[in-house]
Amino acid sequence: MALSDPSNRRIVSGMRPTGRLHLGHYRGVLKNWVDLQHSKECFFFVADWHALTTHYEDPSSIGENVLDMVIDWLAAGISPGAARLFVQSHVPEHAELHLLLSMITPLGWLERVPTYKDQQEKLRERDLATYGFLGYPLLQSADVLVYKAGGVPVGEDQVAHIEITREIARRFNHLYGREPGFEEKAEQAIAKMGKKDAKLYRRHRKAYLEKGDQDALAVAKALLEGQQNISVGDKERLFGYLEGSGKIILPEPQAILTEAAKMPGLDGQKMSKSYGNTIELRDHPDTIEKKLRTMPTDPARVRRNDPGDPEKCPVWQFHLIYSDQTTRNWVQQGCRSAEIGCVECKQPVIDAVQAELKPIRERATEYEKDRGAVEEIIDEGSEAARDIARDTMEEVRRAMGLAD
Ligand code: TRP
Ligand code: SF4
Repeated sequence: MALSDPSNRRIVSGMRPTGRLHLGHYRGVLKNWVDLQHSKECFFFVADWHALTTHYEDPSSIGENVLDMVIDWLAAGISPGAARLFVQSHVPEHAELHLLLSMITPLGWLERVPTYKDQQEKLRERDLATYGFLGYPLLQSADVLVYKAGGVPVGEDQVAHIEITREIARRFNHLYGREPGFEEKAEQAIAKMGKKDAKLYRRHRKAYLEKGDQDALAVAKALLEGQQNISVGDKERLFGYLEGSGKIILPEPQAILTEAAKMPGLDGQKMSKSYGNTIELRDHPDTIEKKLRTMPTDPARVRRNDPGDPEKCPVWQFHLIYSDQTTRNWVQQGCRSAEIGCVECKQPVIDAVQAELKPIRERATEYEKDRGAVEEIIDEGSEAARDIARDTMEEVRRAMGLAD
């Protein structure tokens, strides 16, 4: 696994256990996870420590929500055979890396993360002037770096957290990637590539370092990717040597943004628990029906004969997600001419949402009946996660001068 190429590396993402998941989570995040799980090595975890940063005063709900959230993931189609599912606090290596990274993280970096001030403003009823809350993005960085992840599927609001993760990785590698005798080791590794490749590597490295030739960098990287005769450690050394840095111990990850449009809520705002406008993945079919039936429509349609404008109606947002072109034309035409009523207009949406949620609810029911099986999935996932995290921590400790 070449660390220089993020697309080859594993995928890591987490979610705070804040209660039952809804269609917004499903469309915005979970579908993305489901798509990735078969093509990449995926680790998905419940960020229970992150939940404590904001909910330290009422922690009782966190524990209950952990298992429930994993049930929602499984119900949404995450397969325990394909992805590893675990709980953050079951892998204490996240905390150790967080601590060690805190030594090299300038306070200003954390204070400048936009979510820091935003969330404090938004959650004004809580006291978030805590050390833990300031460190939220650093803990998140540790979550990702401890697995040397290449990609982190997240929503738009999390991009700043991935950015700081990259900066911290870079700083770490800069400070600690210089193992004793780094240059000699790099030179020895070059020699192992064979005469022709060694010459090519040297020439392109020089062109990049002296003239900033990006093409040369790309060629040299490709050359390294293709090497069969050198060890993974030597390869990482040579990637670092190429760019003038030391050995890359913690590679930089990339954000993988969800393409799906934001899921609107029942009132047309973004779907979110705090707005009370959600459809939960495990809602009873009657509840779903009722929520959609009572959903507001264009206020201009007071009476059945009043024409309306779909652009002013939250139901139309649902049609954009769930309906095909024919149905959409029918809505546009029928609404503007008052040929159809809102009850009629909602029916295809109701049918589509019911169809989407039926298999999810059925799977959830199965897992609810067998919570022991869910606990086992989590235990296995946590073990697998720890195996990787332990290896990273050995390297990190060694690099930071801590004895084994
Ligand atoms: N901060 C993320 C959120 O609120 C949750 C999270 C914690 C996370 N650690 C992570 C996401 C690591 C991706 C990777 O959604
Ligand atoms: Fe909204 Fe449909 Fe009613 Fe028009 S007909 S206002 S789009 S629910």
